[in-house]
Amino acid sequence: MNSLRGQIAVVTGAAQGLGYAIAKAYVAEGAKVALLDIRGEILQEVAAEFNRSGGDVLPITVDLSNANDTQAAIDTVLEHYGTPRILIHNAALLITRSMLEITLEQWQREVNIILQAAFILSKAVWKPMIDAGGGSIVYLSSGSGYKGFIEEVAYNPGKHGIEGLMKCLALEGKEFNIAVNCATPGAPINTPMSDSNYTDEQKTRWVDPVLLAPAFVFLAQQDGAGLTGHRVAARADGTWDAIDLL
Ligand SMILES: NC(=O)c1ccc[n+]([C@@H]2O[C@H](COP(=O)([O-])OP(=O)(O)OC[C@H]3O[C@@H](n4cnc5c(N)ncnc54)[C@H](O)[C@@H]3O)[C@@H](O)[C@H]2O)c1
Repeated sequence: MNSLRGQIAVVTGAAQGLGYAIAKAYVAEGAKVALLDIRGEILQEVAAEFNRSGGDVLPITVDLSNANDTQAAIDTVLEHYGTPRILIHNAALLITRSMLEITLEQWQREVNIILQAAFILSKAVWKPMIDAGGGSIVYLSSGSGYKGFIEEVAYNPGKHGIEGLMKCLALEGKEFNIAVNCATPGAPINTPMSDSNYTDEQKTRWVDPVLLAPAFVFLAQQDGAGLTGHRVAARADGTWDAIDLL
């Protein structure tokens, strides 16, 4: 349980669901983990739980739809821990609304959490990772990153957007030894987001997101010479498969 010993990781959306499961796995593997989430109270409880188990974590309450607040949060991480080896941008918001219903403000909020935050966080760690000799960046994608779904007027283009950003940065990151990948749950997962959006039939098949965590430990260990430019589907049996998108 030492595969990430002493390494620094940033996990967004770490208060619950898949982000919580990823952060927990990283703490168990010995990483120091910055936990970013808008749900401050739950985040403090999660941080206390991780610290009780011997972890070294930094909880930061932040609204990732806000550019200035997102920048301030990652600046705090850099000041506190130094350069992260791993950035997992997992936070997202999915509120299904049709084109007739959605407002510009609602659209911007969802897209900003997914795509603008991916840019700001990656930009902030990019040069430090180059100076440190490499790193691994992962964006949480979805079937919505490559297929269309009705009433995902904001989430759909947000997830397509991070897949595009990933493809560009994977190419640019190669010479700097930085891996950039997208990951998607390869199994329906039991999280608060799924609870709001899954059908009863889907809920009969969903699995604990902790089962997907091994794929994220593997992704954390990648660099420009390893797996990069892929969409990785994390499976419930601890395995994963990857599609080359470059
Ligand atoms: N649940 C699924 O089946 C599923 C399927 C495909 C992809 N995904 C992706 O996996 C990731 C995790 O999903 P989940 O099911 O755990 O979701 P979730 O809603 O249970 O958790 C998301 C986390 O992001 C945080 N968050 C939301 N808005 C934020 C903001 N403005 N600022 C900071 N933090 C914010 C939430 O507080 C929460 O802790 C997401 O990127 C999602 O799109 C999930």
